[in-house]
Amino acid sequence: MHHDLAQQTALVTGATAGIGRATALALAARGADILVHGRNEQRAADTLQRITALGANARFEPADLSDPAQVTALAEQVDILVNNAGIFHFARTADTTPDTFDAHIAINLRAPYLLVQALAPGMTERGYGAIVNVSSGAANTPGLGSGIYGATKAALESLTRLWAAEYGPAGVRVNAVAAGPTRTEGTAAYGDAFESAGQAVALQRLADPEEIAGAIAFMASADASYVNGATLSAMGGQPALG
Ligand SMILES: NC(=O)c1ccc[n+]([C@@H]2O[C@H](COP(=O)([O-])OP(=O)(O)OC[C@H]3O[C@@H](n4cnc5c(N)ncnc54)[C@H](OP(=O)(O)O)[C@@H]3O)[C@@H](O)[C@H]2O)c1
Repeated sequence: MHHDLAQQTALVTGATAGIGRATALALAARGADILVHGRNEQRAADTLQRITALGANARFEPADLSDPAQVTALAEQVDILVNNAGIFHFARTADTTPDTFDAHIAINLRAPYLLVQALAPGMTERGYGAIVNVSSGAANTPGLGSGIYGATKAALESLTRLWAAEYGPAGVRVNAVAAGPTRTEGTAAYGDAFESAGQAVALQRLADPEEIAGAIAFMASADASYVNGATLSAMGGQPALG
């Protein structure tokens, strides 16, 4: 594997599971040092061990992203920030409680906002950096039960375009990757209903986390050096009407 990310440090939020863990491994395989963020120590130890096996450096940075003080305490000098951690608690509008609403806003939207606020200035001072926000098809396609989740992702895509304009002049690129239905710890609970989400995309299958991680690593790397403010669709393609 080409070590094009050697000498770079990446903070990956939610790197203790699913897409975040696969992203941490993809970036480590390309030579980056990884700050593994999450809460669960056992899962973190597993991610760290897998990164070490690749010959890369990694450290666990625990924080509960629903607490703004813990988010800003994560602020360190990094070259790559992947805002991956997110929650998806599906409910129709009538059944969405204020707590569910607030948790989505805090974890999916406020935490990435605070991290960009804290980390982008260091990147602009150094004249380079890459930020990748993990979005979802729910940002643009209404899903019954995914209202507030989709709204946080739509807002994150909007901020991606804003931050690209705000930090681009200093050489910092900000992009998003919109993931399609992906087999992760978080989606395991949805069982057969989730399998059918895979059948609804043109590739007619679910994604593996590594397939989303590949798109994120591309956006974080110099391979995407002229890509800024974009949302890359890693959603398996839209089927045509029959
Ligand atoms: N899987 C999909 O089908 C899919 C599709 C589109 C978009 N996405 C997006 O992709 C991202 C990752 O999804 P996933 O399926 O890989 O998720 P997952 O398997 O549920 O893993 C979630 C990760 O986020 C962390 N996390 C959750 N709440 C947290 C909190 N309050 N504080 C700190 N960390 C927290 C978890 O850490 P701990 O376990 O250590 O607590 C874990 O590492 C999310 O933004 C999601 O919206 C996923």
